[in-house]
Amino acid sequence: MTVSKSSPARNQLALITGSGASAIDSMQRIEPLILKTPYGPHSPGLARVEWHGRQLFHLPRHGADHNLAPHLVNYRANLWALHQLGVSQVLALGAVGGIREDLITPGSLVIPDQLIDYTWGRDSSFFDGATGELKHIDFTLPFTAGLRKVLSRAAQANGQSCLNGGVYGVTQGPRLETAAEIERLQRDGCDLVGMTAMPEAVLARELGIEYGFLAVVVNAAAGRGSVPITDEFEQQMAGAVGHALKLLSAAVCELLPE
Ligand code: HPA
Repeated sequence: MTVSKSSPARNQLALITGSGASAIDSMQRIEPLILKTPYGPHSPGLARVEWHGRQLFHLPRHGADHNLAPHLVNYRANLWALHQLGVSQVLALGAVGGIREDLITPGSLVIPDQLIDYTWGRDSSFFDGATGELKHIDFTLPFTAGLRKVLSRAAQANGQSCLNGGVYGVTQGPRLETAAEIERLQRDGCDLVGMTAMPEAVLARELGIEYGFLAVVVNAAAGRGSVPITDEFEQQMAGAVGHALKLLSAAVCELLPE
């Protein structure tokens, strides 16, 4: 492992991946990175990589060994490290449960356009009093419209079906929800449920980093499906994530033309 001391290049692209995609077989690690941040250590496994002939950064948010629970990920350090590397665009991948059974089934891909944050106790702002600065950033549209379009075009180019739009309810985890909690999320307007889009999305916004999210549905949410959730999780994960990576690789190729 090396500590990068290079000055930030601008307009870099990063891929943040989650469960089922901490390691990506088709990716070549060019330079493993450990950066010092004012917020402590970022997730292990950050690297400059080559993927489909393009250079970008990869950050597995749960760590290279997938052992950091969603509520314990150091989101501030992660986003700060990417910012230090000159990253201006992030494509994020996350596994979710499907709430809207009519629209979203295990294996589906969704590009959410909204979120509701149910997390608590996570460090969710860089405006923590330490710098004496405070800005109330606009978070009306939590996911960058341009990156949502890139993801949607990538799905079309690949002939993959992908739901464009949806409300992502972000829960604290690491436990899954109760059936009553999922009913409440549906009444609130959530279509899917996961544990990681927040505070990742808002920290990116605070740093001026564009942020698009691809959700991969690996189970029907609690109380919805006919199979025990964790069984479905296991059955769906590899195939669904492979499908998602195919879409993301097309998006990366559009964002980083040869
Ligand atoms: N709930 C919360 N997070 C998840 C789920 C779920 O059902 N599936 C995958 N991540």
